[in-house]
Amino acid sequence: MVTKSNGTIAILTGGGDCPGLNAVIRAVVRRAEMLDYKILGIKNGWLGLVKGTAEPLSLLSVSGILPRGGTILGTSRTNPLKDESDKKELWENVKKLNIDYLIAVGGEDTLGVARKLAAEGLKVIGVPKTIDNDIEGTDQTFGFDTAVSIVTEAIDRLHTTAESHQRVMVVEVMGRHTGWIATVGGLAGGADCILIPEEPMTIEKICGILERRHSRGRLFSIVVVAEGFKLEGYKEVVTKDQKVDPFGHAHLGGIGEVVAQEIERHTGYETRVTVLGHVQRGGSPTAFDRVLGTRYGVKAVDLIHEGKPGMMVCLKGNRITSVPLAEAITKLKRVDRELIDTAEIFYG
Ligand code: F6P
Repeated sequence: MVTKSNGTIAILTGGGDCPGLNAVIRAVVRRAEMLDYKILGIKNGWLGLVKGTAEPLSLLSVSGILPRGGTILGTSRTNPLKDESDKKELWENVKKLNIDYLIAVGGEDTLGVARKLAAEGLKVIGVPKTIDNDIEGTDQTFGFDTAVSIVTEAIDRLHTTAESHQRVMVVEVMGRHTGWIATVGGLAGGADCILIPEEPMTIEKICGILERRHSRGRLFSIVVVAEGFKLEGYKEVVTKDQKVDPFGHAHLGGIGEVVAQEIERHTGYETRVTVLGHVQRGGSPTAFDRVLGTRYGVKAVDLIHEGKPGMMVCLKGNRITSVPLAEAITKLKRVDRELIDTAEIFYG
C-alpha cells in the first residue's frame, strides 16, 4: 500500500452549485495525488464538516467528471458558525478526520466562513465559485461563463418569437446583488434594455427606451432583468416569499413579472416573461469554465504545498494567482461602469 506522507487535504463545495465544480474537484485530486497528499471529500458543504460525513477521493472517483455539471460532493447553504454547538462539532471533526488542510470552494458566504475559520487557525484555501461573478478578489469566478452562454442562447431564441408576435420579452436572470449575468448575457444577446441591481431605474425610463425603439420601426424588444433589480419608486427588491436562507438572504424572484406588467400598462405593448432560474446553474460547463476550474484546483493544492494557507486562488488578467482570503471578500464586485456604458449604447 502506498502511504501518503504530506498529510490530508479535505475539499468541500458550498452554496449554490455551479458548472465547473467537478473540474475543480478533479484537478485538486489529480494534483494532490501527484504531490503525495491524501484527499478527503466532505459531503454537502459545511454541513459535512459539522456532521463528519466525508469520503476518501481517488483518481478513480474523479475519473470522467470534468464535463459534468453540479458537484459530486453535494452542496448546501449551511452556516456552521451560526450555532456554537455546530462550530464545536466542526472543529472536533477536523481533528477526528485528521484534516491538515481544507480547500473550500464557494461564493461570498462559504468563503466568509472559510476566512473566519482561517483566523481561528484552520489551514484553508478558498476557491471562488459563483455564476453571479460578484467576488471582488478575482477577475472571474468559474460558472459565470456557462451561465452567460445559457442566457445568450435563451435571448437568441426569444428574439425570433418576439419578432414574429411583435412583443416585448422580459427575461429574468440570476444576479442577487450584481448584474454581471444580465449585462454580459444581455450584451451578447443584443438586449434592448438591461436592468441590474447597480442601476435602479424608473418604469418611465424603461418604457421611454422601448418607445424609442418602436418609433424607429422595431416593433419587438428584449428586456433582461437581474433578479436583484430594484424598480425605482417601488418597494424593495421583489422576493418569492418571506423566507431567508441560513446566511440571511431572501429568496429573490418575481421582478420580471412586475416589470412586464408595468411595461404593458404604460405602453400597451403586449409583453411576456421568461424566468430562466436554475437552468442557468445546471448542465455541462463551457470549455472556459472547465479550464478555469482546473487551473484554480491545481493552484489551490500548490498553495498548500508551498505552505501558504489563508489565501484565495484568483484570476488576474490571464494569470492564476492568489490573494489573502481576508482581502478577497470584503466587498462585492459590481459591474464596471465601462461595461454598463457600452451596454447602454445599444438600448432602444
Ligand atoms: O448562487 C447564487 C445564486 O445563483 C443567486 O443568483 C440566486 O439568488 C441564488 O443563487 C438562488 O439560490 P437557490 O439555489 O438557493 O435558489
